[in-house]
Amino acid sequence: MKILVFSSKSYDEQFLNASNQNSQHQLTFVPAQLDETTAALAKDHDAVCIFVNDRMNREVIDILVANGVKYVALRCAGFNQVDVAYAKECRLQLARVPAYSPHAVAEHAVGLLLALNRHLHKAYNRVREGNFELSGLMGFDLVGKTVTIVGTGRIGAVFAKIMHGFGCRLLAVDDYQHPDVRALGATYVSLNDALPQSDVISLHCPLTDATRHLINSETLAVLKKGVLIVNTGRGALVDTRALIEGLKSSVIGGLALDVYEEEEKLFFSDHSHEIIGDDVFMRLTTFPNVLITGHQAFFTNEALTQIAEVTMGNLASMESDGECANAL
Ligand code: NAI
Repeated sequence: MKILVFSSKSYDEQFLNASNQNSQHQLTFVPAQLDETTAALAKDHDAVCIFVNDRMNREVIDILVANGVKYVALRCAGFNQVDVAYAKECRLQLARVPAYSPHAVAEHAVGLLLALNRHLHKAYNRVREGNFELSGLMGFDLVGKTVTIVGTGRIGAVFAKIMHGFGCRLLAVDDYQHPDVRALGATYVSLNDALPQSDVISLHCPLTDATRHLINSETLAVLKKGVLIVNTGRGALVDTRALIEGLKSSVIGGLALDVYEEEEKLFFSDHSHEIIGDDVFMRLTTFPNVLITGHQAFFTNEALTQIAEVTMGNLASMESDGECANAL
């Protein structure tokens, strides 16, 4: 089958080509993001392979279908960027990679938390400039602190296990009570109950209509002063403008983001020679207690290997019998 890989980077080529070695698929890699202006590139391809910031709305779906595309392989877990209902109406078959090294994302979330709490991003720069002053670098012991995990699925459960290892008190917010998380002694509570008690909040739920702006100006009002918030889920789980107000008033003691609401205009590309026009993002970068990485939590060798193998497997099973265990 002929597959067009959108938003392709050198590492996508490397891992997808390696997984395709024993298959007959013809892979074409393009750096362009999928949107209304690029969808026609898929002309005469059976399948497209897309990533987190490729946009698959009605218009894009119509163009893909008109150009002969039958299968869509998402090389990611989240699928909020796709109008799944409309795609199915148009008889497109879709599959994703529901699980790939939850450790990759959970470990990155822990890394962000440690760096934020102990100001490692500032310390790194200070030492390089010969400044060994400690003022402004004070953190707090994590042992005994209350850590709230919003979404205790695959990634949240691994994050919970690591934080349990640090000796934290765990609160969990999720209608589904993960047995491993319960076994760690975590208490399942509502978000409203968790917010005033939390020293740390880490977001690991999917972006849906129900979770959009889960942390907003109303929730800010009940947060414990000085809370550290870590978001490796999806950018729009938080209302970024409200968080900026929370940082300005010091209600939020620190914010670590691997994802950002408007990230598709910025992330995965080099904008270092441009003037970045996103004032909200640029305001975030002015805070000493904000740490941002560009959606790299998944980016480990193990995760990329699994993503490529499952993606190629999904395409093979969609093509062979129209059935796929990872179908959307
Ligand atoms: P999962 O499906 O295993 O777990 C998600 C959990 O969130 C489920 O237990 C579900 O019940 C829960 N949930 C749903 N709505 C909720 C709500 N309103 N409040 C609290 N919990 C709720 O998903 P997994 O694999 O753990 O991934 C979680 C999210 O992490 C993904 O949806 C994706 O957005 C994000 N992600 C980020 C990556 C990165 O590189 N930064 C990479 C992979 C995933």
